[in-house]
Amino acid sequence: MTKKTEKESRRGFLKTTTAAAAGVAAVSSIARTANAQGSDEIRFAVIGCGGRGTGAAANIMNTKGNVKLVAVADAFGTKAKNAIRQLSKKYPDKVDVPEDRIFTGIDGFKGAIDVDCDLVVIATPPAFKPMQFEYAADKGRHIFCEKPVASDAVGVRRFMDAVEVTKKKNLLVGIGLQRRHEPQYMETVNRIHQGAIGDVIALRVYWNGGGIWHRGRNALNNLLPAGMEPTEMAYQCNNWYHFNWLCGDQICEQHIHNLDVGCWVKGEYPVECNGMGGRERRMDGDATKSQIFDHTFCEYTFSDGTKMWSQGRHLGNSWTNVSEYVHGSKSTADPSGKIFGPNAYNFTGQRKGGHQQEQHDLIEALMEGRIYNEGEYGAKSTFTAILGREACYSAKVIKWDDLWKKGKELAPGIDSYTLETDPPTMPGPDGAYPHPVPGKYNPFA
Ligand SMILES: NC(=O)c1ccc[n+]([C@@H]2O[C@H](COP(=O)([O-])OP(=O)(O)OC[C@H]3O[C@@H](n4cnc5c(N)ncnc54)[C@H](O)[C@@H]3O)[C@@H](O)[C@H]2O)c1
Repeated sequence: MTKKTEKESRRGFLKTTTAAAAGVAAVSSIARTANAQGSDEIRFAVIGCGGRGTGAAANIMNTKGNVKLVAVADAFGTKAKNAIRQLSKKYPDKVDVPEDRIFTGIDGFKGAIDVDCDLVVIATPPAFKPMQFEYAADKGRHIFCEKPVASDAVGVRRFMDAVEVTKKKNLLVGIGLQRRHEPQYMETVNRIHQGAIGDVIALRVYWNGGGIWHRGRNALNNLLPAGMEPTEMAYQCNNWYHFNWLCGDQICEQHIHNLDVGCWVKGEYPVECNGMGGRERRMDGDATKSQIFDHTFCEYTFSDGTKMWSQGRHLGNSWTNVSEYVHGSKSTADPSGKIFGPNAYNFTGQRKGGHQQEQHDLIEALMEGRIYNEGEYGAKSTFTAILGREACYSAKVIKWDDLWKKGKELAPGIDSYTLETDPPTMPGPDGAYPHPVPGKYNPFA
């Protein structure tokens, strides 16, 4: 028998997990080790090396897996190098990223995914995720993708098509909606599904917070290669949370977690939504710094008429609250661990943080050759947030099916963007960015 290259034997491991997923054979970690010719190493790459990309890598390194970070990509080399430095300090044996496996620029992700690896972590601004996820799926990588998975309807559809590819290839897909991995939520939602509060008749979900960071134009001085002039695209990629095409607004970027819990509890996604919102005090009214809203309120309707009310806010000196509540025909629940009234319940088990737990679950599954795929609910929960945003921006009732089929594209031609391309949103002559105006905004054109 000719000796297999390392690449061939690693792909053998992927085939083994494929067989397990198809139910052809139960594959133990021992069988997988033999198949990988003595190596049980899980090699992974990180795309987007900011706070969460670095955090997810550390969470992966804290699992019991024999993991190794082998490649990174970030729009900015400085951020990629910072992440490697931080991780190498804490986990010296789990980082092997020489200079030629650090990829930069907007198309750098391809280089990192092409490196021989088993798992790709995607933690970039939402707009870029569909094309990066699609590329990783085409290359047969297992994927952990942070939420939200896109910023517009076209991106969600592209992501869903790629999820189909991952299913056909029996790839593992984890999505960073981490409440679904927290035992306190899992147990309480399970009790609700078993009828503990009766029929679900209404839901309330909240992400009301104080505000977010802003990175000034000077921040680019330390990020761009020597000699490169600061560009508008570089500025926006660094300040991605302030641009709708990049982040999808606060409802998509953060409030998605609570909307996801609501839909998980309800067991379906809404059929329509109406809403309202605006930008009362975003960056103290300075439209040269941001174009997203600072408050939204949505009324979602499910197929049986059940309502889910949602509040999203970024406003200092106001009521902060990040939570979900479910009203049933018998009583009420807080799905993070409490049922009130009849069938009262208080989760007494060990509460676990989702960021770490989701990686324990992912790495353990890979080690055991078990496949799960969270891609579909990642896409549909993202779309629920986009539906709410478009309802708030337009001040109209928007139907799920209409938006799914005809929702507009916020970043046409994104596959060919570079740090030099003009972004799809540009500042006006006064430096102010355009923003949606309720009653005038059209979600379809
Ligand atoms: N699940 C959670 O609780 C959770 C928490 C925080 C962040 N997130 C998600 O993680 C993602 C990143 O958030 P963050 O807080 O790490 O932000 P961040 O700004 O700290 O990091 C984003 C990184 O992506 C890089 N980047 C920008 N455009 C890129 C491109 N085209 N290609 C490659 N890299 C690019 C930036 O340079 C930056 O290093 C977001 O989607 C966010 O929603 C999830």
